[in-house]
Amino acid sequence: MKVIQKLKCQRVSVFQKNRHALLDGVKLFMLISWSPLSSQAAPVIPPFNPAELQPGGATTTAVKSSLLNPLANLSLVRQEQFYIGRSFYRSPWVQAPSITTDRDGLGPLFNMRSCVACHANGGRGLPPLSDGVAMNSMLFRLSIPEPGEHGALKPEPLYGDQLQALGISLTYNKGMAESGSRAQQRILGEAQVHVTYTPQSGHYADGSSWELLSPDYRITALSYGAMREDVLLSPRVAQQQVGLGLLAAIPERDIVQGADSEDVNQDGISGRPNWVWDVQQQKIVLGRFGHKANQPTILQQSAAAFRGDLGITNRLFPEENCMPDQHCEAAPSGADPKTGVEIPDKFLTAVDFFVKALGVPTRRKPQDAQVQQGRNLFYQSGCPACHTPSFTTGDDADLPELNQQTIWPYTDLLLHDMGAGLADQRPDFAATGQEWRTPPLWAIGLMKRTTGAVRYLHDGRARSIAEAILWHGGEGKTARTAFMQLSADEREALVAFVKDL
Ligand code: HEC
Ligand code: HEC
Repeated sequence: MKVIQKLKCQRVSVFQKNRHALLDGVKLFMLISWSPLSSQAAPVIPPFNPAELQPGGATTTAVKSSLLNPLANLSLVRQEQFYIGRSFYRSPWVQAPSITTDRDGLGPLFNMRSCVACHANGGRGLPPLSDGVAMNSMLFRLSIPEPGEHGALKPEPLYGDQLQALGISLTYNKGMAESGSRAQQRILGEAQVHVTYTPQSGHYADGSSWELLSPDYRITALSYGAMREDVLLSPRVAQQQVGLGLLAAIPERDIVQGADSEDVNQDGISGRPNWVWDVQQQKIVLGRFGHKANQPTILQQSAAAFRGDLGITNRLFPEENCMPDQHCEAAPSGADPKTGVEIPDKFLTAVDFFVKALGVPTRRKPQDAQVQQGRNLFYQSGCPACHTPSFTTGDDADLPELNQQTIWPYTDLLLHDMGAGLADQRPDFAATGQEWRTPPLWAIGLMKRTTGAVRYLHDGRARSIAEAILWHGGEGKTARTAFMQLSADEREALVAFVKDL
């Protein structure tokens, strides 16, 4: 119970701090009608480049109902690997023992049964839209504020580094139970998380009002005892998957070059790379994936998802995601006796290939007058300072199809302090508790068709693009202020541009 209280307090105090920040912002605006647009040199707006039509260069796909389509330039022969990977991404895993030995080993603890259960059609996840609804395509990372291995914090001693709401219930037939080969035990899901939202409201410069929802999390039904009181929680919704291979193919030096850790150019935006542990190379490397750029490669992110989200052990993570007091050794394993892991390596490799080969769809109406106006406003409002419009991929990508492409992802893949309002207060390798990786904006306007509903930001609190922008604090505050100064038509145009990316 104490844990629950504590968690609640943390969130509430964060909220209050933020509310003051919001009020201060409004007051400041009313006292001196300060315009960020006029206080700096006029931003350079590059002329529209026809290459913007194809955000993934030659890999760009047509717009389809799902976002799980191969790079346009992937040859038919190589598409076979893509479709094998896709089937392992889509189909649900089952509990061992099972006759489908290639897909068994689910759990003992898990969040969902398949990748696509969270990344629906390759799209993003949703937080529970009301209290009492289960966490489906969202998860919580956990740590305690003590140094752990390789620059990460220590996992919570009873629950590990991720909360899994589900566990397998072991039901054996009488014969098996009597043979005594395995203990009869239920592995219980770890806990339930409830989310409630507190509204906060304010006004744009033109007087029209907005309302934001600030989330508050409550953990109940802890199956393995009280969590440490100082546990740090990071709520995260599943991220969209398109174009990830292209992001992996951006040369490291081009990402690191964009960083300005000490804000030498004094634009209020510092951008820092995350440096994270690479399990295969056994060294610290640049992080690119995850909401805090906390994973170095698509392979490691996917292998971590197999183990953490589905409970499927693999070559990179051969141990079940269980803490000692959870007694998972009693649960059946789907591991192949020869390799000792549950997913055969050729299938993990196929999933890795599949995710890297997910194509980005083409722009819909970039020449539309409103979208063009929105494009100008995007540059004028300072959004490209973090949402870097374009990169050119290198020439040594894992898939040659990804090489030398001019791409338009609208991210710098760097960490930014986004202020107290968005903070989770849980550091992740070099990322502080206030920093998040700039998310790519490509295909963001296509997300609604994948799940029917769409939410934005790391915890899915924002119901619209405008709300997502209004939550920008810290290094993003100047851009937010610029957005608040726009007229209703201009705001609509800016949103129309973002949705067309
Ligand atoms: C329980 C929901 C859930 C399931 C199941 C799930 N994911 Fe994810 N996925 C997430 C979340 C949440 C993140 C963000 C993780 C973070 O910030 O650390 C993510 C991030 C990713 C990313 C990085 C995207 C980016 O932009 O950086 C990849 C790749 C990915 N998942 C692949 C997979 C694969 C492959 C599977 C199946 C083996 C899978 N996921 C299963 C929730 C899920
Ligand atoms: C200081 C860097 C920075 C600037 C400037 C900035 N952003 Fe962001 N943006 C971020 C980061 C970091 C996030 C992720 C925050 C989170 O998830 O909590 C984000 C999130 C978003 C999202 C939600 C994306 C998603 O996947 O849910 C949108 C939309 C967005 N920004 C648009 C804009 C627009 C439009 C502007 C200009 C008005 C802008 N941003 C300026 C860094 C920035």
